[in-house]
Amino acid sequence: MCGIVGYNGNSNCFPFLISGLKSLEYRGYDSAGVAILTDSVVNLVKTQGKLDNLREAFAKAPLQGVLGIGHTRWATHGEPNDINAHPHKYGRVTVVHNGIIENYRELKEALMAKNHHFTSGTDTEILAHLVEEELNYGSEPLAAIWKTIGQIRGTWGIALLIDGYSHTLWCAKNGSPLILGQGTDESMIASDIPALLGATREMIFLEDGDVAQLDGPDIRIWEGPNVPVERAPQTIQWNPIMAEKGGYKHFMLKEIFEQPRSVADTIGERLHADTRTVTFSDFIFDPKRFDRVFLVACGTSYYASLIGKYLIESTARIPVEVDMASEFRYRNPLIGERDLLILISQSGETADTLAALALAKEKGATVLGIVNVLGSAIARKSDHTIYTHAGPEIGVASTKAFTAQVSVLVLIAIHMGIATGTLMGEALAELVGAMVRLPKQINKLLSQSAQINVIARRYSHAPAFLFIGRGINYPVALEGALKLKEISYVHAEGYPAGEMKHGPIALIDEELPVLAVAPEGSTSEKMVSNIEEVKSRRGKVIAIASQGDTNMGNLADDLFMVPRTHPLLQPILTVIPLQLFAYYTADIKGTDIDQPRNLAKSVTVE
Ligand code: AGP
Repeated sequence: MCGIVGYNGNSNCFPFLISGLKSLEYRGYDSAGVAILTDSVVNLVKTQGKLDNLREAFAKAPLQGVLGIGHTRWATHGEPNDINAHPHKYGRVTVVHNGIIENYRELKEALMAKNHHFTSGTDTEILAHLVEEELNYGSEPLAAIWKTIGQIRGTWGIALLIDGYSHTLWCAKNGSPLILGQGTDESMIASDIPALLGATREMIFLEDGDVAQLDGPDIRIWEGPNVPVERAPQTIQWNPIMAEKGGYKHFMLKEIFEQPRSVADTIGERLHADTRTVTFSDFIFDPKRFDRVFLVACGTSYYASLIGKYLIESTARIPVEVDMASEFRYRNPLIGERDLLILISQSGETADTLAALALAKEKGATVLGIVNVLGSAIARKSDHTIYTHAGPEIGVASTKAFTAQVSVLVLIAIHMGIATGTLMGEALAELVGAMVRLPKQINKLLSQSAQINVIARRYSHAPAFLFIGRGINYPVALEGALKLKEISYVHAEGYPAGEMKHGPIALIDEELPVLAVAPEGSTSEKMVSNIEEVKSRRGKVIAIASQGDTNMGNLADDLFMVPRTHPLLQPILTVIPLQLFAYYTADIKGTDIDQPRNLAKSVTVE
């Protein structure tokens, strides 16, 4: 998954390109480059490594020009080095690309037989060769691009410049995000919203199969060769500050502390506390239409799905199946017209989740997408969409998106429970009331974050961690383990507490800290037994408990209290100390918290 930017206007384009790439660095950061048209010729500067390397290289050989493209890479084909860095130029054609050209090998062999010489190990380079070949046959640029698209298979977000065309930038989209920015006397392109926010809020989301031509501020779009199409600009409410760190050391910390706001915005106008109802602008659940619900996602979004199962089965008594998207898409699932598939994805671009969407639609299911990024592929391909209003989530480790996803799932569970007639009266009133109190409770909880910092320091030497929980808090244990391992590189495992005796208890000694997610509730006595089992084997326990639970205070070695709330809402609170624990542990270790090694913010490849 990579980041693409482009600029076409009256100003020197490098400042826009480099700042745009900076805001997209979370999409991939193993190499970067720019291409700028100067005196009718496109020149390139590109380097391995992070953007600072590109800045240094550019300073040595600066380029002036008002037309340019840029790229920050997460390698899929060809190791990260200067040669494989984008942009790639062949003949008159320069290109940057996000995605995978699945048939590039056969195309490359055919072109090599025509004496084409390739310099890189990437799939992307083939695009420059194919367009140049078509230009040589006498095609105009737009026709050459369409003919190239007709030969390739896979996914792409492409930006392209051609020597001699000093006022035109072309781009094409299929399967990877590409957004156009409309300025007064300029136009821009980017893979994601934050790269454009500093220049404009008027954005156009290209659809799969689109090709666009930008001539200064003029934007034209085609959905097929000679088939023009109008794509209305959308005004994006995110402001540039939201996409910046806001004074926090890392985006991840900022996003953890944004959760009172993001949960409040996500609940927003959907929850009508006065009438105890929930409405969505784009979804109404009809219990007569659906027998079952499927929840499918990846990573943190999958853990939110596991919580969704508890929520919906509890309030609406509708059977819910949960799957990792990478498993769902290959197991020939028994899903059909009487099923509702709910996909959860922060980016809305995750390849496995998109594949699950396509499979479910093929089998006749109705698809509801819960996504954070406006206009993302899952949002556009789902039958219905409910947006989490978490704002841009830049840190690779998902935090505020997770609590926003769970908040949407609570709203859906209430909506379904009312529709099926199983959630009403006092039970409904209690849940709605607890939901309204959540943002303030999160705020209060965050005000005690220093305690977690102290606890994290105390255990920062530990070689591994075990996270345990029961019921709706079992997925919270899984999520806490994922947060810790993906940013601190320390092994951590989430486990159902009831399974301790079936194996994991063999791990327990004074070296392996156990984080027990043990708020008040129907299984808290069982959690106490689990903690006692650990203590009796000299294990150390860090407990996440409910305010006022003095018993837990006497039992655990370290304790973090969360406000009391409705049992179904506990995950939104119990996960926050685990997010902070992971953050502070990683901060102590000095890892690259916002851009952890080997990871990307959105996994748009299999
Ligand atoms: C979570 O911290 C990870 N970055 C990762 O597991 C992520 O949740 C997963 O890749 C799914 O991404 P999505 O929500 O954008 O589909």
